[in-house]
Amino acid sequence: MNLLRTLKRTVAAGAVLLAAVSLQPTSAFAAPPPVVGGVRAAQGEFPFMVRLSMGCGGSLLTQQIVLTAAHCVSGSGNNTSITATAGVVDLQSPSAIRVRSTKVLQAPGYNGTGKDWALIKLAQPINLPTLKIANTTAFDSGTFTVAGWGAAREGGAQQRYLLKATVPFVSDASCRSSYPSLVAAEEICAGLPQGGVDTCQGDSGGPMFRRDNAGAWIQVGIVSWGEGCARPNLPGVYTQVSHFAAQITSAAAGL
Ligand code: ARG
Repeated sequence: MNLLRTLKRTVAAGAVLLAAVSLQPTSAFAAPPPVVGGVRAAQGEFPFMVRLSMGCGGSLLTQQIVLTAAHCVSGSGNNTSITATAGVVDLQSPSAIRVRSTKVLQAPGYNGTGKDWALIKLAQPINLPTLKIANTTAFDSGTFTVAGWGAAREGGAQQRYLLKATVPFVSDASCRSSYPSLVAAEEICAGLPQGGVDTCQGDSGGPMFRRDNAGAWIQVGIVSWGEGCARPNLPGVYTQVSHFAAQITSAAAGL
């Protein structure tokens, strides 16, 4: 889905950008370690991480509700078509917990720009730790952790094992210079100026998180989009969870 947006953006940016992209060298060396530039997460390290069957990530907002991206779902209503896999870094592990969805709530007003969040209610609760969401902007800076089973490089395959990486906050002003269409109030960016570390296709819907003042994980972002993956000066764009926290919490209570 982001691909469509990426394509739209690429086309809109015109021939200069297309030329720049096609000239990007593909080095035979220095292939990034298997998210892009990440390493494998340890079993149990991020117990709130969920893989969704449509090829997205998510996080346990409650034991029975997954927070993901609006662009990962097709609308709101009863929906038993999604399977959530949890409790494992290895998606092929025999100890994977798999639970079906019962309902989906796509962010009200979602139209493909901003508001990229959704909730999925599960048929049964999963007995694993949840990830709390930031309800103030206090943690919307610093260094963030991202994790997912998405591609380990632009255009690459989905991963069997959960990968993790850390990416620094990028200011709205800087991010807007990369992406003029950024919805600054609703989106938060992260990435290195030189690229090399990023989320990528298939990581969408998964959490971007950090430690709060008590040392607990707190979710500040939802993987949303980017131009390619891990390219220099093209950070990852994440739904700014603090902006939607009150809405997410009340929607979850009513789901
Ligand atoms: N929208 C993508 C997905 O569906 C995630 C892209 C994130 N891209 C990035 N460069 N951070 O999985």
